[in-house]
Amino acid sequence: TSTYVPYKVKDIALAEWGRKEIKLAEAEMPGLMALRAEYGPSQPLKGARVAGCLHMTIQTAVLIETLVELGADVTWSSCNIFSTQDHAAAAIAAAGIPVYAWKGMNEEEFNWCIEQTLFFGEDRQPLNMILDDGGDLTNMVFDVYPELIQNIKGLSEETTTGVHRLYERMKNGTLHLPAINVNDSVTKSKFDNKYGCRESLVDAIRRATDLMLAGKVAVVAGYGDVGKGSAESLRGAGCRVLVTEIDPICALQAAMDGFEVIPMDEAVPRAQIFVTATGNVGIIKARHFEAMRDKAIVCNIGHFDNEIDMAWLNQNYGQTKSQIKPQVDMYEINGKDIIVLAEGRLVNLGCAMGHPSFVMSCSFANQTLAQLELWANSDKYENKVYVLPKILDEKVAAMHLAHVGARLEPLEQEQADYIGVPVAGPFKSDMYRY
Ligand code: NAI
Repeated sequence: TSTYVPYKVKDIALAEWGRKEIKLAEAEMPGLMALRAEYGPSQPLKGARVAGCLHMTIQTAVLIETLVELGADVTWSSCNIFSTQDHAAAAIAAAGIPVYAWKGMNEEEFNWCIEQTLFFGEDRQPLNMILDDGGDLTNMVFDVYPELIQNIKGLSEETTTGVHRLYERMKNGTLHLPAINVNDSVTKSKFDNKYGCRESLVDAIRRATDLMLAGKVAVVAGYGDVGKGSAESLRGAGCRVLVTEIDPICALQAAMDGFEVIPMDEAVPRAQIFVTATGNVGIIKARHFEAMRDKAIVCNIGHFDNEIDMAWLNQNYGQTKSQIKPQVDMYEINGKDIIVLAEGRLVNLGCAMGHPSFVMSCSFANQTLAQLELWANSDKYENKVYVLPKILDEKVAAMHLAHVGARLEPLEQEQADYIGVPVAGPFKSDMYRY
């Protein structure tokens, strides 16, 4: 048990700016605000000590304060070394919530920060809930602090990559807690991963490079939810977009959405912008780098930096690396300049401000519902991975309609009977894919 450090952020003086932006974000996060109104008075998370490990952004600050309003004690770290927004972290620290996060930390500090969140307050009470994004906090508890597991009621996981890890653990018998897969709520992956990246990918490339995107050739590796949003983001900016895929279904989707689908080796000599969005490893490696055009821009929007073989790049061409500005580096390979963004880590959080508030309100409403469910009913669950019931997914969507001026057609009883659904939902079977 470490000694108590109340918080560690870059600059607490940024708190006032952070608070102003949190206020603006609240106005764009109707889901979280509705949950505060619904559950705030009954304090359903009273007694919960939630340790969170998720990009410490302005939007996450609204999530944290929602959990606090529902009665929880919360500690926080960021799940990526570049994704913290220092004004958001400062505002959370100034509100008295223990947060350990700053933009541009090293790996050792990253682990130190997560470790601080395991114990609460001066009397070092251990966490009893996990809220994770990518699985690093979960792995630390399971692999380094297994004695803490017995106190913990459950965990909720935000992203595709973290969810993969959980299913793997379930398969090999090392999942020690009930887990809710937030990612696969429809109102998470089909919105945040897709529409979020549609806004934040191009934003990141522009902030990093100021490059004219219109007319350029870009390649997006992976046409899952993140890839779909990323490809559309680039097309919207006027790029001609190539897509690579291993899965014939997603490849066909890309083709029918109007993208050219070819193998990476063929895309490399044509593309000026490379974006990996697979959640897989080794997508851009030595032979690709060596065949790229001069001034090619390489970035990743998947969870981990191993989509791009940064280890090879740094080992073989590290001596040519020069920093243009933080999170923008240039390497020289065979006389050609290659520009790498955010050191290969997720570019929308490294080089821009992540996803906009509105779409994160959908994701974080699911997170909040997952925490409520696990805290109240953890004994109903086995040590398996669950998704939230569809009725809650529909509830999250419903909470966001008014904000975009959308109004539902009322379903008549006769119609409900005809299609075989309850008038109040759920409106689709679990098979439905949206
Ligand atoms: P997904 O599973 O829907 O899509 C990944 C796609 O990549 C699949 O269609 C798969 O067939 C394809 N793929 C796998 N290996 C490939 C290869 N070698 N070449 C080409 N394509 C390949 O996953 P999703 O939800 O799109 O997430 C992708 C990554 O992005 C994950 O690591 C996830 O955690 C992360 N993520 C990042 C966000 C951000 O804001 N930066 C937001 C949400 C998710």
